[in-house]
Amino acid sequence: MDVQAIKRTFGIIGTDPELDRAIGIAAQVAATDLTVLITGESGTGKDVFPKIIHQNSARKHGPYFAVNCGAIPEGTIDSELFGHEKGSFTGAVNERKGYFEIADKGTLFLDEVGELPTSTQARLLRVLENGEFIRVGGSKVMKTNVRIVAATNADLPTAIERGRFREDLYYRLNTIPIHIPALRERKADIPLLFRKFAADFAERNHIPAITLSPDAMKMMENYRWDGNIRQLKNVTEQISIMETERNITAEALAKYLPNRVQSSLPVLLSHSDTMDSVNERDLLYRVLFDMQKDIRELRAQVNNLSNGRPIEQNYVQNNPVTQIGDTVVTRVSQNEPEEVEQEFAEFVPAEETHYGASTGSTDNLSLEHHEREMIIKALEAHRGKRKDAAKALGISERTLYRKINEYGINL
Ligand SMILES: Nc1ncnc2c1ncn2[C@@H]1O[C@H](COP(=O)(O)OP(=O)(O)OP(=O)(O)O)[C@@H](O)[C@H]1O
Ligand SMILES: [Mg+2]
Repeated sequence: MDVQAIKRTFGIIGTDPELDRAIGIAAQVAATDLTVLITGESGTGKDVFPKIIHQNSARKHGPYFAVNCGAIPEGTIDSELFGHEKGSFTGAVNERKGYFEIADKGTLFLDEVGELPTSTQARLLRVLENGEFIRVGGSKVMKTNVRIVAATNADLPTAIERGRFREDLYYRLNTIPIHIPALRERKADIPLLFRKFAADFAERNHIPAITLSPDAMKMMENYRWDGNIRQLKNVTEQISIMETERNITAEALAKYLPNRVQSSLPVLLSHSDTMDSVNERDLLYRVLFDMQKDIRELRAQVNNLSNGRPIEQNYVQNNPVTQIGDTVVTRVSQNEPEEVEQEFAEFVPAEETHYGASTGSTDNLSLEHHEREMIIKALEAHRGKRKDAAKALGISERTLYRKINEYGINL
């Protein structure tokens, strides 16, 4: 089966190249008996992969079992997986076959494999290496022919570091790794998935499907989706039930998106891990646009000043808030301007500061160039007196010194 046929057969929505690649690998390795480890955040759609592999393998007429290793109590997991002999523990009134026995000639999906207790990990390693296992309380070595597909949303290398997962087992399981990308890494799939979930829900409940306004769609696309597709599906269904208006505005949608990050600079500056890098970048660009505009206006003021006209007001101290963005506003009013500026300088990557050059704005110079020019003008206007120039620019003398050195200004 090719990738498109697999998507149709298993109801997989999305056109993301990484997702297609993952499906392609699954199709390719299906014919072998190699162990596959599927990784990806919770809700990314891992569950369908062992089925794809089983259905496309020579074992497809054999048994298929899915075991959630995280849901079985530690005391019974060995017995569930490897079986037990009669009387091997209290309550073992009969012998019992484990999954490794009943899945013989088939496929066993070990979901949440990172949750296996270490003693079980040792047994699993053995069966993976030579197909041998011993029932709990037994002594006879038994043989099985099972293909293992494992999945985890946990970070196994970290679990190894912490001594919670055996490194040798990890390498053994990870023969063929398949990684499923997080939803925030495949934004283009969000509208497709939303429409599918909205249509499915509407059909099941005989109601018109919800649609999103362009703003709401943007909000959806930029949301973090920590719960990935599972969360998108839940949100779509919740809105379908709760909202009477069928066209959903951004305002209405916001109620259903917990911890939605507001475009605030302290969040940017604190490198909050609740934001994804793309979002962060977008916000940063916006701040830079505003800052560029700000600098242009400031330059105009400095021009006025150098042409002998009085500056209208102490621009930076009284006016920056509306220009740079809500959060800087608060911070500027609470902190020394210099402090804000320095934090900014730390955060903005060097190449980012040139962004203004490609905006097609009328003043097509880079942000740095603007700043440099502005400083020179202010210094000229104040006949080289740094103290006065710094005051006019609304920055501290220390920052002005730093900028003069940085830009190699010689006046
Ligand atoms: N590409 C997709 N197209 C349509 N539905 C999807 C897709 N990916 C996932 N889903 C749906 O999203 C939900 C979550 O997927 P799934 O249960 O496979 O997540 P998971 O990766 O196994 O998460 P966990 O690690 O929490 O077990 C399911 O209802 C699944 O059908
Ligand atoms: Mg799962």
